Amino acid sequence: MKRIAVIGTGYVGLVTGTIFAHTGNRVVCCDVDARKIDQLQAGHMPIFEPGLSDIVETSVREERLSFSTDLTAAIQEADILYIAVGTPMSAKGDADMTYINRVAMTIAEAINSPKIVVIKSTVPVGTGHRVGQLIREHRAAPHEVAMVSNPEFLREGTAVKDALAMERAVIGTSSEVAYKEIASLHETLAKTIMRTSIESAEMIKYASNAFLATKISFINDIASICEATGADVSDIARGMGLDPRIGHQFLKAGVGFGGSCFPKDTKALMRIAETNGMRFPLMNAVIETNERMRRSIVDKVNNAANGLQGKTVAVFGLAFKPDTNDMRDAPALDIIPALREHGATVKAYDPIAIPEAREVLGSRASYHTSLYEAAKGADVILVLTEWKDILQADYHRLYALMNHPAVLVDGRNCLPDMAYSAGFDIRQVGRNYEPHTLAKAASSG
Ligand code: UGA
Repeated sequence: MKRIAVIGTGYVGLVTGTIFAHTGNRVVCCDVDARKIDQLQAGHMPIFEPGLSDIVETSVREERLSFSTDLTAAIQEADILYIAVGTPMSAKGDADMTYINRVAMTIAEAINSPKIVVIKSTVPVGTGHRVGQLIREHRAAPHEVAMVSNPEFLREGTAVKDALAMERAVIGTSSEVAYKEIASLHETLAKTIMRTSIESAEMIKYASNAFLATKISFINDIASICEATGADVSDIARGMGLDPRIGHQFLKAGVGFGGSCFPKDTKALMRIAETNGMRFPLMNAVIETNERMRRSIVDKVNNAANGLQGKTVAVFGLAFKPDTNDMRDAPALDIIPALREHGATVKAYDPIAIPEAREVLGSRASYHTSLYEAAKGADVILVLTEWKDILQADYHRLYALMNHPAVLVDGRNCLPDMAYSAGFDIRQVGRNYEPHTLAKAASSG
């Protein structure tokens, strides 16, 4: 059993702390946000993440997991300090280090024994080294500080599953002792444990997210060419993915990537290149394509509806992806205001992200917890998130509730077979709608 303090109870911190408690360690998760800590202490999850509340509850009950705003006490009682505070995007596009620096100073002031300080947050290359120096320069007592970079690779919506069965744990450190400690924390969790320098571990994180984002923008550019040439991007992705060197994952064309990671990390990586005197035109193109996909779906809706003035669009799915209530950089945040600018009224549906969406979109949309309510009287349905209940909806019923001709724009190429026979004018991304071929392809794929 190790004594661990996790500083920052955002997505990454909360899941990381919970998993370490679940595997038998004593963990305190800290945050300066007293409201969030109160909520967690009362057993309420600040985020929606399948499976998380169950293991939080068990670990709290079995006294391995607790929550606190007392950072100093948590630091003093732990041997391993995981920093998982936010690194939001600064105005220049690089990662804002304010919270990381503040935590480093608090560790320096509170230090009462040797500590292993692990940076879990996504930080620019060189941060681990710099934070180590900062703590050592300001430490209240000359205890040893071993720095580690241990980047996070979990995905929202499958975070618990990912964290319990990691493909890899990357541990960047020059300290033998710290490596052994952090590696043993991951023994039962990760298929592969890889040791690197701090700088390489920091870079692996950016390079991984940037590469996945590149796959998405690549297939989205191919989708645009498919639309012009009559090819079907879903077949292209399947055909490409059968080559194991390419693989099937992250080749789903659609409205592009959102969330708290890809948009921020692609820009931050560009800044890292720039501040080191280099250009990264590939990354620039990835970002540009992603922004274009959001505009092009609005054009698609507008064209299909023959103009949007006075029309009603039912937007299906607001969260940036299914199984999360996270609205950060969700495509809906650009697309709904753009639909409004074209004169449309927007009725928005999401199974869980409505409170979060309402906070940022306000009165730009009306909000509905029923797909059928949202579709009633609409001219267009626009699918932005492939939630399970959108895949399983009764498309004949939806069609019957709408104004006719009824348009269905599928921003995720995710429609079930039934949708093709319901009577809609269907538009997808990178596929020219031909009812027979598509229905057949969908059922055989
Ligand atoms: C991503 C990475 O996948 C994680 O490995 C990483 O740990 C995390 O960022 C992070 O840095 O914290 P996440 O943002 O939760 O995870 O979501 P993804 O499943 O990667 O999806 C990102 C976006 O890409 C979503 O908007 C999704 O709809 C979109 N996407 C994904 C596509 O448009 N096409 C695809 O084929 C796959």
